[in-house]
Amino acid sequence: MNCCSNPQCRGIEQIFDDSVARKELKEYKRKGVKKTTRLLLNAVQNLGVKNASLLDIGGGIGAIQLELLQAGVAQVTNVDASPAYSNTARDEATRLGWGDRVSYHVGNFVDLAPTLPSAEIVTLDRVICCYNDMPALVQASVDRARRVYAVVFPKDVWWIKAGIGLANGLQKVFRHPFRIFAHPTEEVEALVRARGFERVFTNRGLFWQVIVYAKG
Ligand SMILES: C[S@@+](CC[C@H](N)C(=O)[O-])C[C@H]1O[C@@H](n2cnc3c(N)ncnc32)[C@H](O)[C@@H]1O
Repeated sequence: MNCCSNPQCRGIEQIFDDSVARKELKEYKRKGVKKTTRLLLNAVQNLGVKNASLLDIGGGIGAIQLELLQAGVAQVTNVDASPAYSNTARDEATRLGWGDRVSYHVGNFVDLAPTLPSAEIVTLDRVICCYNDMPALVQASVDRARRVYAVVFPKDVWWIKAGIGLANGLQKVFRHPFRIFAHPTEEVEALVRARGFERVFTNRGLFWQVIVYAKG
């Protein structure tokens, strides 16, 4: 099933397939969330999540949703371009008894955004780097955030850009449509700040940066 006309979405469907989703769910059950996801979760929880609504864009197997539901989030909207991730997230949430708290939407968030409700908290964990049109993705997502906007994406330093360029070169050689993007941090930040958000948490690791914004 093609989630949209954007070639990157076709790449997403191919790369984030059933076997990847199964492997990630197994890893989450064994080890819990990734280090950067834990940093994002802690920063978001410090801003208050009790009875809040969450819009998790590119939620993958649903780790952020499951963690925040346990922490008191009331309602979740999950949007993912990968049907395999979405199905896996739904099955796991249902198994854990949270199924009725989450609504699932498969497709390109940029296309679906006008049909989706806003939420107090919006998260994009390692999603911005998977989409070519960063301004459209960031604008549409920050427009749906009422209080907190939390993102994890690669730093835009030269050596990461070079590594990503190399990885994309290999994808091209193997005729795989999926590409990775190192979008400029300053451009992401400008779009978020223009909607009245201020940075309240930053963590820069070797590859990823975790940034959480809140509305005053
Ligand atoms: C690297 S995975 C990250 C999954 C999860 N957030 C995590 O950190 O484990 C990138 C995710 O973003 C989703 N994605 C990327 N661009 C998207 C878009 N425009 N609309 C919806 N989902 C998107 C992919 O389908 C995938 O689930």
